[in-house]
Amino acid sequence: MMYKANQLLEKVNDYIASLGYKRPPVGLYEPIEYTLSIGGKRIRPLLLLMAYNLYKEEIDEALTAAAAIETYHNYTLLHDDLMDKADLRRGIPTVHKKWDENTAILSGDTMLVLAYKMMSMCPTCHLKTVMEIFNDTALEIGEGQQYDMEFETRNDVTEDEYLEMIRLKTSVLLAASLKIGAVLAGAPEEDARILYEYGVRLGLAFQLQDDYLDVYGDPAIFGKKIGGDILCNKKTYMLINALQRANNTQRAKLEMWIATNNCNEQEKIKAVTALYDAIGIKELCQQKIESYFLAAEESLTSINIEESRKSILREFALSLMKRNV
Ligand code: IPE
Ligand code: IPE
Ligand code: MG
Ligand code: MG
Ligand code: MG
Repeated sequence: MMYKANQLLEKVNDYIASLGYKRPPVGLYEPIEYTLSIGGKRIRPLLLLMAYNLYKEEIDEALTAAAAIETYHNYTLLHDDLMDKADLRRGIPTVHKKWDENTAILSGDTMLVLAYKMMSMCPTCHLKTVMEIFNDTALEIGEGQQYDMEFETRNDVTEDEYLEMIRLKTSVLLAASLKIGAVLAGAPEEDARILYEYGVRLGLAFQLQDDYLDVYGDPAIFGKKIGGDILCNKKTYMLINALQRANNTQRAKLEMWIATNNCNEQEKIKAVTALYDAIGIKELCQQKIESYFLAAEESLTSINIEESRKSILREFALSLMKRNV
């Protein structure tokens, strides 16, 4: 059967809940249970299962790989929140806040191992290919996260450098999820390649939008602190283009705020957002998101399978673009 997104979500959530991390030492496993049980959108396991379901009617055999990808993603979040000094995720305190920094490190490391353990349970005939994709992806994510941090203290980051950084830290995991789903289902190599390309494009739109929501999201819904990227001087598409398009007065103000660390946080967020608004960054960013979304759609169109089977991915991608979480 062709599963709908909400049916897949239920399967993923049930499967992850069944893993059960209620075991000693509680200090290590409770944060893992806390992180995995609070959900999130489950985008990556859903993409994996949707790709798998393009070729196979039943999806249960791919659930372990789907859970592996989600566990891996959640591991990156524990460490990312430490690096980004983020106190809130999915509307609740992050692990390093609720417990402490060492807990975020070690529970995160353990989730990474659990992810690898689950991914390596895939059928032997696909093991080598799947682990190669997973390993390459995990290395790239580390590279992307490193660039993301290095860019905080650089003021000459170009748009191309930013796009490459978000491809590495975010897009490749969406792309790998789709590709692993396709490989596990025995899809033609060319399809797996195009699904990967689709994931990269969707991922670029997705991270651009994450950055957009970090400024323009609704604090009551977004689940993360609005303005966190502005406070960290993250070199987002918005900040890079604001610096480039600003007039001299605006640029001087932006540069002053970037150089200011010990200020009232809300004041800085408000001032930088006002500059974005004045420079027309909101619309510019929306257009950029739309252009990658359309490029992703083109990739999907070019896959040589029946159109009706693609509609679930199409609808899911569209719902992601309309998200405010
Ligand atoms: C957050 O990912 C990290 C990014 C790559 C932007 P998601 O927005 O998929 O987070 P959850 O899992 O749904 O909370
Ligand atoms: C996260 O990017 C990318 C990874 C976790 C690999 P962000 O730092 O923008 O993600 P959020 O906003 O904290 O979810
Ligand atoms: Mg972050
Ligand atoms: Mg980050
Ligand atoms: Mg973000």
